[in-house]
Amino acid sequence: DKNGIDQVILRNIRGASATVSLHGGQVLSWKTERGEELLFTSSKAIFSPPKPVRGGIPICFPQFGNRGTLEQHGFARNKIWVIDQNPPPLPNDSNGKACIDLLLKPSEDDMKLWPHSFEFRLRVCLAADGRLNLISRIRNVNGKPFSFSFAFHTYFSISDISEVRVEGLETLDYLDNLCQKERFTEQGDALTFESEVDRVYLDSCNTVAVLDHERKRTFVIRKEGLQDVVVWNPWEKKSKSIVDLGDEEYKHMLCVDGAAVEKPITLKPGEEWTGRLELSVVPST
Ligand code: BG6
Repeated sequence: DKNGIDQVILRNIRGASATVSLHGGQVLSWKTERGEELLFTSSKAIFSPPKPVRGGIPICFPQFGNRGTLEQHGFARNKIWVIDQNPPPLPNDSNGKACIDLLLKPSEDDMKLWPHSFEFRLRVCLAADGRLNLISRIRNVNGKPFSFSFAFHTYFSISDISEVRVEGLETLDYLDNLCQKERFTEQGDALTFESEVDRVYLDSCNTVAVLDHERKRTFVIRKEGLQDVVVWNPWEKKSKSIVDLGDEEYKHMLCVDGAAVEKPITLKPGEEWTGRLELSVVPST
């Protein structure tokens, strides 16, 4: 319970845990069995809807960023979701996990801004080995097709932005939000950071890794149904303009999102789309 908003805590038998808030259907914490926090949340985060929370895994839907007529990153992250008591079964979802199912349906106000009726089911699971799974199922319950973009906007907690690198994006084309969304091609090396980065890597393979040399650990991001990878760090100057982020906190966060941005997803009436993210952390040298 945070500001009167319910949170659900998932625990596995080894003592790892994850916290999911009904505000935004947002994962706010993911901890190892030793109690180490793996996700970043700003010390200045504001926990009062309709403001989004700076950190964890906000869900960007039905619009990523400002590519459309809606508010930045869409409205799903600002809404109060409900617990789905009777979720439809999911194929290939093995047992032995601690899971919570949430549901978001549009309000009348949402329908004025985005006149499409949908059911958004989110399942968050913590596996016995500490992996975190997020599964989004979005169904068109409208009479007409609609399109959306989407991201699991994941804030990883890192030792120091200058010490981490991202592997798995080499040679991909990307759109650079800092250059009028112009298209570039990554030149082959792992991605390192020395200034603001705000990019959408296109048509990536399904595994991306964030290596944190200092903490001797690697985050492995596996995704399905999500073609793109967003990489964002605001760096020093932009951080100062973000009210719910401390001036120095950019050093300890890196967003790497499984996303569907460049090619929106279109659903015909009655159709459903599934997007999956699996996060794990492995020791490295
Ligand atoms: C990133 C976008 O994914 O999210 C950035 O690419 C944006 O442009 C950032 O600044 C944070 O957005 P917000 O709305 O949570 O401040």
